[in-house]
Amino acid sequence: METLVSPSLLAADFLNLQRDIEMINSSDADWLHLDVMDGVFVPNISFGFPVLEAVSKACTKPLDVHLMIVKPERYIKQTAKTGAMMMNVHYEACTHLHRTVEEIHNEGMKAGVTLNPSTPVNMLEDIIKDVDMVLLMSVNPGFGGQKFIQNTIDKVARLRELIARTGSKALIEVDGGVQDETAPLLVNAGVNILVSGSYVFKADNPHEKIKWLKGLKTR
Ligand code: DX5
Ligand code: ZN
Repeated sequence: METLVSPSLLAADFLNLQRDIEMINSSDADWLHLDVMDGVFVPNISFGFPVLEAVSKACTKPLDVHLMIVKPERYIKQTAKTGAMMMNVHYEACTHLHRTVEEIHNEGMKAGVTLNPSTPVNMLEDIIKDVDMVLLMSVNPGFGGQKFIQNTIDKVARLRELIARTGSKALIEVDGGVQDETAPLLVNAGVNILVSGSYVFKADNPHEKIKWLKGLKTR
């Protein structure tokens, strides 16, 4: 499978959102990654549903929504209303994850489960066949531009094994510190989708960066 790229809007210029979304529209990006933070689950607040709705009107790429909020099940319908393709909820934020995944599917979205860096992949043993994607955090969630946590490479390999062993169809996405050095290692370990914020948006030529990420193949 080719590598998919989901640039994270968190690193865009919020005074020029329309311009930056148009840049994404005209790029090879596959999805647009949107980071919602509540200041409780993570020590930062980003943007919420009014912004998602506005972005959704301007963006021609499928929306990959990453909710860093407590009890994300409260917002399943609202997320669906934005036209989101994928709703990612944190394993650590859901008490009844199976029910939440089911409700996300009932609202017509794909369901992604996200793991913090310290949560082992084997916690997904009994849900892996029900999810469309696992999002591995390669930084502690809350901020863009952080240093990549190297253990993620081994974690991707362990998740690949779990997926193969259970016959799950889940895709693997990684988020945080994805750039020149880390992206090839991730793809080689079996990652399907790369989220990238500052590496793409702070570049002189974001189109080139996106194209380069997309061109990465398993060795
Ligand atoms: C972090 C967010 C990421 C962030 C990644 O909490 O989930 O999506 O935007 O930013 P970079 O690519 O700069 O590490
Ligand atoms: Zn994210």
